[in-house]
Amino acid sequence: MKQSAPARALNGGPIAEEIRREVAEETARLWQEHQVKPCLAAVLVGDDPASAVYVRNKVRAFAELGLRSEHQALDSSTTTEQLVSLIRTLNARDDVDGILVQLPLPQGIDEATIIEAVDPLKDVDGFHPVNVGLLAMGRPRLVPCTPAGIIELLDRSGIAIEGAKACVIGRSQIVGRPVSQLLLQRDATVTICHSRTVDLAEVTRQADILVAAMGKPGFIKGEHIKPGATVVDVGINRITDVAQARSLFGSETDERIKAIERRGYTLVGDVHPAEADAVAGRRTPVPGGVGPLTVAMLLRNTVGSARRRRGL
Ligand code: GUN
Repeated sequence: MKQSAPARALNGGPIAEEIRREVAEETARLWQEHQVKPCLAAVLVGDDPASAVYVRNKVRAFAELGLRSEHQALDSSTTTEQLVSLIRTLNARDDVDGILVQLPLPQGIDEATIIEAVDPLKDVDGFHPVNVGLLAMGRPRLVPCTPAGIIELLDRSGIAIEGAKACVIGRSQIVGRPVSQLLLQRDATVTICHSRTVDLAEVTRQADILVAAMGKPGFIKGEHIKPGATVVDVGINRITDVAQARSLFGSETDERIKAIERRGYTLVGDVHPAEADAVAGRRTPVPGGVGPLTVAMLLRNTVGSARRRRGL
């Protein structure tokens, strides 16, 4: 069943800007009252182009707010031991409030060892088992940025979470699992789907809030969506094929094909934009939906971490 009007875009940009303003005010207060200026250390290992863009955006956002940050770039031959050694140095530095190691790491580096090496009080990604455990216990402290951003996006857009049927597709440590925990914490009725879910569309079609976070370009179609539902698209996939762009983008097709011609790719989420817009009530676009919130929440986590470490 289709609904009459196309889905309204749920844009993250203005909400991220609002959060950035709040963080800027808090940062100014922290400086005036305590002469503290929070600092992030961002670590990028290897030469994954998308990761390089993300880290650059994060570092730039800190500079724009007058926060300190430093960017450590290591080559892809770095060993687990070398990276742990760098993290220990950052853990020990009193001037560093937040440590972020961009994922995925190159093959050969043990991700779990790296995540567990970060001081849980400086773990602004919220990936350390201590922070994951606190979230699972319903006592969130440092919460992963994209999931926290999704909740802010829903709240500040007036989308009710309490009592809603929420369905999360994907069970990653970065998005699927933590956003499920946050939705549960807010009294949604949460279902988690994944690659082995039987009759996926049957399950996802029940959801008032559908979060797609499994990393498959344009996978979620009209048949997966309840008419009028809010669809949060967390996927970021590069599309290089013009025919694929034609099948995905509806009214946006021309500008997307131009983007492919200009720079070799365009971005699409895990949701099929044209099909979803014929059924959903709201949909987060890619880019410009959830993405801007991730960086805003990283700023907020880092300022929070600076306060907490000093008992403020
Ligand atoms: N890779 C994709 N998303 C993230 C994130 O939020 N933090 C880090 N560190 N790596 C990521």
